[in-house]
Amino acid sequence: MRISKQLQSIKKIPRTLVALIASIAAALFFILPALTQQPVTIKVLIQALEAEQLQPIVEEFEKQNPDINLDIIEAPNETNQVEDLYTSAFLLGESPYDLVYMDIVWVPKFAAAGWLMPLSDRVSQEELEQFLNGDVNGGTYEGELYRMPFRSDVGMLYYRTDWLKQAGYKPPETFDDLVQISQDLQSRDTVEWGYLWQGKQYEGLSAMFVEILEGFGGFWVDPDTLKVGLDQPEAIQGAEFLRSLIKKNISPPGITTYAEPATHRLFINGESVFLRNWPYVYGLALDSPIEGEFAIKEMPHSRQGSSGASQGGWGLGVSANTNHPEEAWRVVEFLSKAETQKEYSLRTGYLPSRRALYTNPELVAKYPYFPELLKVIENSVLRPPIAQYSQTSDILQRYLSAALTGTMSPEEAMNTAARETRAVLEQSK
Ligand code: GLC
Repeated sequence: MRISKQLQSIKKIPRTLVALIASIAAALFFILPALTQQPVTIKVLIQALEAEQLQPIVEEFEKQNPDINLDIIEAPNETNQVEDLYTSAFLLGESPYDLVYMDIVWVPKFAAAGWLMPLSDRVSQEELEQFLNGDVNGGTYEGELYRMPFRSDVGMLYYRTDWLKQAGYKPPETFDDLVQISQDLQSRDTVEWGYLWQGKQYEGLSAMFVEILEGFGGFWVDPDTLKVGLDQPEAIQGAEFLRSLIKKNISPPGITTYAEPATHRLFINGESVFLRNWPYVYGLALDSPIEGEFAIKEMPHSRQGSSGASQGGWGLGVSANTNHPEEAWRVVEFLSKAETQKEYSLRTGYLPSRRALYTNPELVAKYPYFPELLKVIENSVLRPPIAQYSQTSDILQRYLSAALTGTMSPEEAMNTAARETRAVLEQSK
């Protein structure tokens, strides 16, 4: 009896009130959580200089993706230091980074350690073919893609067109040409230094040395057989050549402490005829005292070797332990897009990793050498893509530096480097 009374009273509740209660419940369950949801934060560690250059891209990304907060943590500018920071974060367990902004040479180590998510299923073959081969190969380990290319990089020779023209020289083809032109212009008091390159003990030294090795017809480590070539005559000649540049005063004695920035500053200040560096310098030099007075070309070589361009470059991997793989991937897609790469290259002079952009009219108008450079990049030399790369590179840096500073003879240094490299590779077989 009481129950039926209650039912009757419920029936008396006006329909409109029921509808109102239902809408409030729906709001509580569905709409409110969506409104109050915080954006997902995606963290990535990037060298300070580039973090700043990427700022407009981050802003645009967040505007188009309001549910994602892209948080760039600034790192030191040298590649080894950033690699160490990522490595210790991964070794400590849960890495705080959702994305890994990677130098091309870190990929095998990071992939072999299981720190990266495989990406092949996320990109079609057709899409990957739009990117430069060297960048895709450098992002692949044992057949799996772990790093999407963002910007490419390749070593090249900068030279002063005005001084070469005045003295009646063509740009150097061989190392001998480079030495001869340098010494002649230095003796005429045209310029203080002949040739600047990265001689400090760090990764840039290894990146530059692969060009010298290629130029003399030598090799470092064959990635398939793990054969080591550092004690071969060509490699020793390469080390001797660099040491002789310092001894002959073609390169300043302080070059054994110079990374990329120190060398580009001297060149831009008009203190050297030649410079070996990456393409970012072109953008800087366009807006500098040497504007209109410089050009670039492939690296010179010895008579027996051929021109070698070291393949560098940066791209994004997804951290294996991220809680937000989908959001992290959306960032990767945004940076890989042709539009983003074009805008970034126009603004900074960095090389895109998409092949078609090298003939894009806007980019060619600003960087007329892009179509030529494409050929150089397609024939570039990779530092050995092996999981033990960073140990191998440390050994080379240590002994090459000993040869450059004169604490060891080039031959002794290269023999020791070869022996230690073999020991490291042997251990991991
Ligand atoms: C550039 C290259 C990178 C290389 C580094 C060496 O950043 O892109 O691949 O390892 O220079 O300093």
